[in-house]
Amino acid sequence: MFKLFVLAVVAFGGVTGLDNGLARTPPMGWMNWQRYRCETDCDKYPDECVSEKLFKTMADKMVSDGYLKAGYEYIIVDDCWSAMERDEEDRLVADPIRFPSGMKALADYVHNLGLKFGLYGDFGTHTCAGYPGSINHLELDAQTYASWGVDYVKLDGCYADSDIMEEGYAEYGKYLNATGRPMVFSCSWPAYQEPLGEESNYEALKKTCNLWRNYDDIMDSWQSVNSITSWFVDNQDRLAPHSGPGHWNDPDMLIIGDFGLSYEQSKAQMTIWCLMAAPLIMSNDLVNIQPEFRDILLNKKALKINQDELGIQGTMKVFKNNIAAWVKPILPLSSTGEYSYGVGFISYRDDGIKYPIDFTFEELGLDGKYGYDILDVFTGEWVDDGTDIISVRVPPSGAVFLKAIVI
Ligand SMILES: *[C@@H]1O[C@H](CO)[C@@H](O)[C@H](O)[C@H]1NC(C)=O
Repeated sequence: MFKLFVLAVVAFGGVTGLDNGLARTPPMGWMNWQRYRCETDCDKYPDECVSEKLFKTMADKMVSDGYLKAGYEYIIVDDCWSAMERDEEDRLVADPIRFPSGMKALADYVHNLGLKFGLYGDFGTHTCAGYPGSINHLELDAQTYASWGVDYVKLDGCYADSDIMEEGYAEYGKYLNATGRPMVFSCSWPAYQEPLGEESNYEALKKTCNLWRNYDDIMDSWQSVNSITSWFVDNQDRLAPHSGPGHWNDPDMLIIGDFGLSYEQSKAQMTIWCLMAAPLIMSNDLVNIQPEFRDILLNKKALKINQDELGIQGTMKVFKNNIAAWVKPILPLSSTGEYSYGVGFISYRDDGIKYPIDFTFEELGLDGKYGYDILDVFTGEWVDDGTDIISVRVPPSGAVFLKAIVI
């Protein structure tokens, strides 16, 4: 009965949402923005400027260091890639100094490695960094992206009226579809409404977009991770039901391996993002990343929970003693249709011990009649003791991430 219900929901989601066959699980990849921003001075910073060299280097690393194999397949060029002017036929062109081979050549390079190519644009008159926007060239720009071999479009919303975005993004989406080239469509319009207290139309988002940025840009700090997380928790009952195969809430990039998060905080971001069924788009330096951070990003058990094919967005279930407990229903189902769960405990404490705390299955909503086999995602150890209580020790601003496999 439960199983039939789940299948019906999944099938129904496919009918009401955008039907381009893409992003059936949360998209995974790499994007330059949070780590490299809009650095355009390649003379001074040859290894850090937004250039074809940067993207080729990162694409190579995605393959050689196992990211592609783990599922990170999109390499996405964010703002500041284009020239300041369109060409004489009004087409967007890449900056000739930083992308001398052009975007088609970069897409070909990426495709030859087995990766997919993403590119940023903006719905308004200008991009957020002041480069040409698409509002007067929506059809032409969709065609240009398709002709370059783009597989994923991130359309930002700077310099535009948020009241016309729902319609405008839908129009752009129609032009994307008309090119005949399947392209993941990442929308930004809720990020121009929700932070101002305006509720976005999620039914419209699902019809137009494969994923959408709901809230503020992530910055390189634990504080930023917390501010995004607490907004999603405050709104989880409204947001979570709209997540599913083909259409995802997007809390923004993973900043694991950057300057701002400790090792434990990095595990916490990974835990929350995996349980939220969030897109996993890294923004970091894959050349110099330390191995222990890379291991978090490549953790197979964590990724499997994020990529679970039911696509159910987990929620924060219980908050006690400054520990948040998150729960995400996943496969496999029991023979009677009960879910397994990804379960995460995030500490907002700062007393310097691993804080011991118990949660009952009942508190967490784990209602399987015959119990669960429980696996620690980060240590790989079985932690089940046969009771219906989960006892954990959570480090300050850190996480314990478990998989409860229904018996
Ligand atoms: C265009 O939309 C139709 C109808 O929703 C869909 O079947 C098709 O796969 C889409 N094509 C592309 C390239 O997105």
